[in-house]
Amino acid sequence: MSNPASILITGASSGLGEALARRLAGPDVTLWLTGRNAERLAETEAACEAKGATVSCALLDTRDRDAMDGFVRRADSTAPLTLVIANSGISGGTGSGGESDMQAREIFDVNLTGVINTIHPAIAPMRARKQGQIAVMSSLAAYRGFPGAPAYSASKAAVKVYAEALRGALAADGIAVTAICPGFVKSRMTAVNDFPMPFLMEADRAAEVMVRGLERRKTVIAFPWPMHAMVSLLSLLPPGLAVRLLSRLPQKS
Ligand SMILES: NC(=O)c1ccc[n+]([C@@H]2O[C@H](COP(=O)([O-])OP(=O)(O)OC[C@H]3O[C@@H](n4cnc5c(N)ncnc54)[C@H](OP(=O)(O)O)[C@@H]3O)[C@@H](O)[C@H]2O)c1
Repeated sequence: MSNPASILITGASSGLGEALARRLAGPDVTLWLTGRNAERLAETEAACEAKGATVSCALLDTRDRDAMDGFVRRADSTAPLTLVIANSGISGGTGSGGESDMQAREIFDVNLTGVINTIHPAIAPMRARKQGQIAVMSSLAAYRGFPGAPAYSASKAAVKVYAEALRGALAADGIAVTAICPGFVKSRMTAVNDFPMPFLMEADRAAEVMVRGLERRKTVIAFPWPMHAMVSLLSLLPPGLAVRLLSRLPQKS
């Protein structure tokens, strides 16, 4: 990571985004943090300031294109962004009657449109400087369509493939793009799951793995490795067989 750094993270009011902000905070680091919950975002802000970072927060919905554009541009013109992490995301329960039309649209809106709204305003100025780094929060759920989370796994597959393609498209401009694909991590999102979550990690440990991967400017940061190996194997199975196997998994309540 470059030093001084100017880093923008969406969804810093909770879970992985909060853990990333806390880990990346330090002297010579300017953080631009977003979320919707004022109280929790202020807690992240205070923790990052205590580590010596300069922090600027905004309560924003990442689906609001104009608001995101304004925030990203303001951040970049104040302290040229060195890293943008499009982390905000949601999942939905499918356990009582499956996924509704509204639920599917909302998940795609936040997990895909929100990511586009976050990274695109940063691409032009990074291109002009011929340097920068962009990370999008995908998931190991991106490796197969999971019947228990149709829109979630599809939206995460979309941002993973988008990031991989952008990696090639923006390489000549000096911009490194990374897709982050965690397995199960303790957060508000997973706290509601009432089924066993193999290799469940603490958010701090996940942030450590993610930051190490970002420092190495990896194309994909997929972890923990046993879950990555499992979903990679699943992605090689014939689709019909994979669907039969995955349909037996419990659904999110
Ligand atoms: N936890 C896991 O096991 C896991 C695994 C793989 C990938 N991920 C991904 O990691 C990311 C973070 O999830 P998490 O587990 O940390 O969940 P979380 O604790 O629920 O945090 C989600 C964050 O996203 C923000 N957010 C949600 N919708 C938003 C919107 N429309 N506009 C702006 N901010 C919004 C939330 O803000 P407010 O709380 O302030 O509303 C919160 O800061 C997500 O993209 C998720 O899909 C999580």
